[in-house]
This record gives sequence, structure tokens and C-alpha cells, in this order.
Amino acid sequence: MTNSLAGKVAAITGGARGIGDAIAARLLSDGARVFALDKIAPDEPRDGVTYLETDVTSPDSVANAFATIDAQAGQIDILVNNAGIQRVGLVGQVSFADFSAVVATHLNGFFLCASEVVPRMVRRGKGGAIVSIASTAAFVGLPGRGAYCAAKAGILGLTRALSLEVATQGIRVNAVAPGFTRTKFIEQGLADGSLQEDWMVARVPMKRLAATEEIANAVRFLAGDEATYMTGQSIVVDGGWIVQGIPEAPTWLQASS
Ligand SMILES: NC(=O)c1ccc[n+]([C@@H]2O[C@H](COP(=O)([O-])OP(=O)(O)OC[C@H]3O[C@@H](n4cnc5c(N)ncnc54)[C@H](O)[C@@H]3O)[C@@H](O)[C@H]2O)c1
Repeated sequence: MTNSLAGKVAAITGGARGIGDAIAARLLSDGARVFALDKIAPDEPRDGVTYLETDVTSPDSVANAFATIDAQAGQIDILVNNAGIQRVGLVGQVSFADFSAVVATHLNGFFLCASEVVPRMVRRGKGGAIVSIASTAAFVGLPGRGAYCAAKAGILGLTRALSLEVATQGIRVNAVAPGFTRTKFIEQGLADGSLQEDWMVARVPMKRLAATEEIANAVRFLAGDEATYMTGQSIVVDGGWIVQGIPEAPTWLQASS
């Protein structure tokens, strides 16, 4: 067993920027050959990453991307389902198109990519790792983000079900659930007023947002040989956000230096 990713081929959806770009960088630096599947081109392409224009909501587009990976690399060992969008609006006001777009990107995207990857991994007989980016929104309710909460909770459900389907094949299926992470995704919420940085930071026990690399570290763990007995699970990387019951606990109940 080695924890190097040398000789492994990884596909990362939404890999052109943000968390996906950090995951691409991490897997690349640990030796993997990396394909980034994104509907946009990167502003700053990384040397060594192959960018494939892909829409994860489209079965044809996803099939084309994995056919290209077959032709260029001949195998797929790691799939990271990371592509995501946000649409904010209350049920009764948000359009069906917006609701559907969120579910299609996060949940259908995972299904479509896994549908391409699983048969290839099974045929090759060398196992594999599928890691999907969920969210703290998979565990708690966020008003105005019903589609997002539903899609992210759905990712955990599909993770658990798929993990059982492929366990005997040595294919592990897990998820990472980030908290607030500084990317364009969050900037969009700050711009439309649905998020406020002081509100967010105040409620995070560690009193800061995550760096994209901190999310990539958890993905890297689940994708590699240090996690060979983990499947069907999720790792929450949120600075303590979802476990706090008393946000304003008195200082004598907190450690101080
Ligand atoms: N930033 C956060 O605070 C946070 C918190 C929890 C979870 N997440 C999740 O992390 C993931 C990455 O988000 P991010 O913060 O890096 O946002 P981001 O907007 O910077 O990156 C998302 C990427 O997904 C791509 N994408 C969107 N729709 C796509 C499609 N149909 N096909 C292919 N690519 C598509 C975008 O082009 C973009 O490059 C998302 O799944 C998001 O829900 C983010």
C-alpha cells in the first residue's frame, strides 16, 4: 500500500476554480494525473491539469468527457463530484427552473458522473474512490436555500447507497461537507445580501472561514490509501459550525491561553 497518487487518474468536476481548483492542485502535487471537468474555462489554468469543457447536468456532455479521459489516460481511479451552483429564494417564490438547476448540478451531476465511472472501475478491477462535496447544508436547514439543502442531503443519501453497491469491488464512496469557504460561491452570497461576513465569522467557533486547501486536504485523505477502510461516510470540515449548541457560551466555558 502506498499513499502516493502516482499512476492514478482523477476527474474533478467544477475544477476550474474555487474548491475544485484546490482539489486539482492537491491531487496533482501528490502524483495523480488530473482532469478538470467544468462548464467554464479557468482564469488561471494549472500546468499539468487537463481541462475538459463539461456540463455535469448533461448526460451527453458527461459521457463525452469520460470518453476523452479513456482516450487520453486509459483509466479512471478517482472521481470528485464538486461542481455546484447556488440559487436563493423561498419556496413559493423561487422558480421551478432555479430549484431544478440546483438539484441537477449537485445531485444529477454526481449520478451522471458516477454512472460513467463505476462501470469503468468495475471492469478494470482495481477499485477506486469517489468523493463528493456535500455541505453543512446537508445536515441543517438554511432558509432560502431549500434546493441546495435538499441536493446536498441527497448527495449523502446517494453516497451511502452507492457505497454498498460497489463495496465488494474495492470502490469507496464518501463525501466531504465543507462549511463557509472563501470562494466565488460565497462572494455571490455576500453580493446579493443573503450572506454577511461578520454574521458568518461570528457563528463559526474557529472564528474564520475555511481556506480551499483545508477542504482539499479532506478530499485527498478520502481519495487515497490512508482511507482504505472508509466508505459510505462524510467528513465535516466547518470549523465547528454544525456541532455548536450554544453559540454565545460564556467565556468561562471556553479554553483560554
Ligand atoms: N464555498 C463554500 O462556502 C461551500 C460550502 C459548502 C459546500 N460548497 C460546495 O463546494 C463546491 C465547490 O464550490 P466553490 O465554493 O468552489 O464554488 P465556485 O462557484 O467557485 O466553483 C464551482 C465550480 O463549479 C462549476 N460548475 C457549476 N455548474 C457546473 C456544471 N453544470 N457543469 C460543470 N461545472 C459546473 C463552476 O463553473 C465553478 O467552476 C460546490 O459543490 C459547493 O456547493 C461550497
